[in-house]
Amino acid sequence: MHILSSLSFALYAFSQARSLLKTPSYDFLVEQGQGHTRLRPHVQGYVGVQYQEPLNLAASITNATTRAEFALSALQIWYNAGTGLWNTCGWWNSANVLTMVSNLAKYDSNPQLQDLAKRIFANTITQAPAKNPLPGVETQTLNQKKVSLANTGYDKSMDDEGELITTYPEGWSKIRWDEDYKVEDIKLKLQGDPANLAAAPNPNDWLDGFYDDDLWWALGWIGAYDITKNMQYLQLAEGIFMATTKAWPTRCGNGGIFWSYKKDYMNAIANELFLSTAAHLANRAQNKSFYVDWAKRELDWFQKTGMINDRGTINDGLTEQCKNNNQTTWSYNQGVILGGLVELNKASPDPSYLTLAAKIAKAAIKELSDSNGVLHDKCGPLCGGDASQFKGIFVRNLQLLHEAAPDATYIKSIQANANSIWNNNRDEGNMLSINWAGPFIAPANASTHSSSMDALVAAITVK
Ligand SMILES: *[C@@H]1O[C@H](CO)[C@@H](O)[C@H](O)[C@H]1NC(C)=O
Ligand SMILES: *[C@@H]1O[C@H](CO)[C@@H](O)[C@H](O)[C@H]1NC(C)=O
Ligand SMILES: *[C@@H]1O[C@H](CO)[C@@H](O)[C@H](O)[C@H]1NC(C)=O
Ligand SMILES: *[C@@H]1O[C@H](CO)[C@@H](O)[C@H](O)[C@H]1NC(C)=O
Repeated sequence: MHILSSLSFALYAFSQARSLLKTPSYDFLVEQGQGHTRLRPHVQGYVGVQYQEPLNLAASITNATTRAEFALSALQIWYNAGTGLWNTCGWWNSANVLTMVSNLAKYDSNPQLQDLAKRIFANTITQAPAKNPLPGVETQTLNQKKVSLANTGYDKSMDDEGELITTYPEGWSKIRWDEDYKVEDIKLKLQGDPANLAAAPNPNDWLDGFYDDDLWWALGWIGAYDITKNMQYLQLAEGIFMATTKAWPTRCGNGGIFWSYKKDYMNAIANELFLSTAAHLANRAQNKSFYVDWAKRELDWFQKTGMINDRGTINDGLTEQCKNNNQTTWSYNQGVILGGLVELNKASPDPSYLTLAAKIAKAAIKELSDSNGVLHDKCGPLCGGDASQFKGIFVRNLQLLHEAAPDATYIKSIQANANSIWNNNRDEGNMLSINWAGPFIAPANASTHSSSMDALVAAITVK
């Protein structure tokens, strides 16, 4: 059986490009791409492209699918088969990379890509739990009134400027790659029948006390279910969602979930994810009305909190007094709710859902785009390892809204961002960085790259 590797996928993407572009220098590029010379600079902490190319071949590619395939082959240089996560990005970020991969697999039927996606799901579901940065904390908080903190060093907080700070356990993100790295390592580790997991996955393995993290993984496994139809992924997502229902209600308006087990902040992201996960499950799991009910309760609560401001965008969270705290309107906060409303409308149609989604989407495009239509988060370009993921999450969900309720504004935004990423935010190794308007800021990492890829994937679907 042919086993896929990131390298063979890279070569596949190049051969695709070759059929599109018959340039004399192309064969030379393929030669360069066959050895580690091309891949290594990125693997070893990547400080810039260390090889010369006579021509930046990828620049002339305009086909959205081919662009995304090139970018996927670059992404997989970061995939660590031993951890099931992508090196250079955090725990919850990897859940988003997984979601992006399933989304690409949804729109690109290329059999090699389909096979690679399934292998990634099968590998990640078994390997990643060992990297949960704060395991057990949720089961502890449920069983005891007083929390004895599992003090691993994992923490997420917001500074006075409203910027997010995440700290990981010591050594958590130590990059395993070394001089002896071989592409074959990944090939070997990605074996196994993706359809058959030895044991049912345990939802507790995916809980880290931050309910947004939990729910990113739930959505990731729903994406894996959509591609594979493997019930184990869906059941895992259900189990994770059920765990987060234990965080309901907060002290504000007798509803909503807290950001984390610390119960010290009620924010938009955790609650939007709760809505979106419930609505996604309503369209997939058996107990439809149960999930529709949760999604509706969340939406009702969310609207009453006032987190949606007068401009139609969504601020970060609530004050101690349960009022909109007027903190940053992060791009991802304008995005997750869109996918939630689309799925809720599918499960339990009501025109007001799509009206609300359109209002938020248009307000966000207006507020967060520059004069070329390119998205920026307020603190950009360098906002740390959390915000580096946000813009892609917005575009991923904007695309879901566009599928349900097409609008020229969305097409324009998706295309402007995807084109700018490709033309201005990509290096010669097809690594994609943080500033979608450019110039390329080195080094790119799996978070900036996968987030950029969300826009490339969205561009496949809009014409
Ligand atoms: C882009 O490439 C994909 C994959 O090769 C192909 O299926 C699709 O038709 C192409 N799209 C256009 C617009 O040429
Ligand atoms: C289905 O939802 C009901 C509440 O509507 C709940 O009591 C029941 O346990 C759920 N069943 C399953 C199989 O999740
Ligand atoms: C909210 O914050 C913005 C700046 O981010 C500021 O211009 C505005 O006055 C604030 N509004 C309130 C009600 O504090
Ligand atoms: C990824 O790159 C962005 C942009 O340079 C940076 O802000 C972020 O901290 C990086 N992430 C990690 C985990 O280093």
